[in-house]
Amino acid sequence: MTAQGKWRLWRGGVFLAALTPLLLWGWQVANNAAGPEPGRYLLLNIGLGGLWMLLLTLSLTPLTKLTRWKGFALIRRQLGLWTLAYASLHLLSYALFILGLDWAMLGSELVKRPYIIVGMLALTGLAALGATSNRWAMRKLGKRWKPLHKLAYPILGLILLHFLWVVRADLVEWTLYATASALIMATRLPPVARGLPKLRQRLASS
Ligand code: HEM
Repeated sequence: MTAQGKWRLWRGGVFLAALTPLLLWGWQVANNAAGPEPGRYLLLNIGLGGLWMLLLTLSLTPLTKLTRWKGFALIRRQLGLWTLAYASLHLLSYALFILGLDWAMLGSELVKRPYIIVGMLALTGLAALGATSNRWAMRKLGKRWKPLHKLAYPILGLILLHFLWVVRADLVEWTLYATASALIMATRLPPVARGLPKLRQRLASS
């Protein structure tokens, strides 16, 4: 197989892996295996899936620095777009299963559950990143592309806040996600970012 064919296979495998949870939850709902509130089951799982996708996307740069493996960089855009896809499906489940497409309810919902405004801000940010993740936008934005895409960091903060607001009582799961986020973000601190290639060299020579 050519090198190009191998990378295509790798990207295809990642695509299937990211699609699988959605198919599984859909199958569970269709087969009455999603508990007493299937709509809420979908909403919560897809929301959590979106957070996973963002954390995985943000792990790719430090992993590339640590391993120099090209495969991580090749799936960055795809995983970023999966984050947006999961977040959009999460909003769709909210509109279908919680609002029942009754848009008149949205006003009172926003007052009752302000964390939805935080979620909407995060989704708007993700949509802006998705819309500017193509080659044309990269060329157009030039040097501004990189700082714009660092918006992913405050978006992660917004999602953690949205999540914290929802869980309130049971903080264990939230704390695990917040710790993973803090570790991933710590790899962006200049001394840590500079240390990663050195760590790779040290591991390679030992
Ligand atoms: C577009 C606007 C959004 C709306 C309307 C929305 C709505 C909701 C609602 C209603 C819940 C469940 C609250 C409950 O327990 O009753 C929830 C939970 C959650 N949402 Fe969102 N959300 C939005 C954006 C996002 C985004 C962008 C993400 C991440 C990509 C996200 C991730 C989560 C997570 C992780 C949970 C908690 C899941 C759990 O408890 O297991 N949400 N959201």
